[in-house]
Amino acid sequence: MTFTVVVPRAVAAPLAAALLAAASPFSARAADIAAGEQKAQACAACHGASGNSANPAVPSLAGQPAQFIATQLVMFREGQRKDAQMSPMAAGLTNTDLNNIAAYFAAQKLSPPKHSTTAANAEAGPRLTQQYNCTQCHGPGLLGQQHIPRLAGQQMEYLRTQLRGFKASTRFDMDGQMTSAAQALTEADIAVLADYLSGLK
Ligand code: HEC
Ligand code: HEC
Repeated sequence: MTFTVVVPRAVAAPLAAALLAAASPFSARAADIAAGEQKAQACAACHGASGNSANPAVPSLAGQPAQFIATQLVMFREGQRKDAQMSPMAAGLTNTDLNNIAAYFAAQKLSPPKHSTTAANAEAGPRLTQQYNCTQCHGPGLLGQQHIPRLAGQQMEYLRTQLRGFKASTRFDMDGQMTSAAQALTEADIAVLADYLSGLK
């Protein structure tokens, strides 16, 4: 399955323009990873060393697709996605900054997960990710692609909160695809998925 850059339908024109200016030339331009590493020093307090979070409520950034990171930073900067801790961090970033930062974190290795999935959820998880097409968008290994995040090895509490947020339409979602995907999930499914994904290498 191939993906093209999604031109957001659901967002206002100025935001779409900002997003495209920041994220779509991404693959064409050479990002400066060293400059990104400099700027990323400010992120370690919450996202951990090299983007490996030790806080269950804060996502790891290591190994996320660069386009996903850049897109989310634009969303925080433009005020579409909001978080009391995170929004101020994105506010001052230029497009060059955020593309460099994205390239830096995309190049970091996600540490093997510390979370261990229960035996029951290790069996049920793969069934659910097939049944609900998670693997179609997030990739067969759930490692993410383009603007779609990696789920494997992400912090469990963060995953659970986001899935509940998509289901309740309170987590911002650029094109509505993830909000639709979450509608069929029960609270029990969300618990299984978060436990399974968090322990997935
Ligand atoms: C004060 C703590 C804090 C700092 C410092 C911080 N962040 Fe965050 N960040 C968060 C939290 C909390 C979230 C999750 C927000 C939510 O629940 O929606 C987040 C989310 C993100 C996301 C979305 C990830 C995803 O999987 O959806 C990105 C990208 C991100 N931060 C990048 C950065 C960058 C780059 C920096 C440094 C320039 C930074 N953050 C600094 C707390 C912080
Ligand atoms: C039709 C494609 C599609 C399907 C199917 C899909 N997702 Fe997503 N998912 C996305 C996109 C796109 C995003 C990014 C949304 C945004 O922030 O704009 C996303 C974001 C997420 C996030 C937020 C992660 C983060 O780091 O912020 C989680 C968690 C998630 N998906 C889990 C799942 C699970 C579990 C399933 C299966 C039940 C699933 N997704 C099915 C496309 C999809």
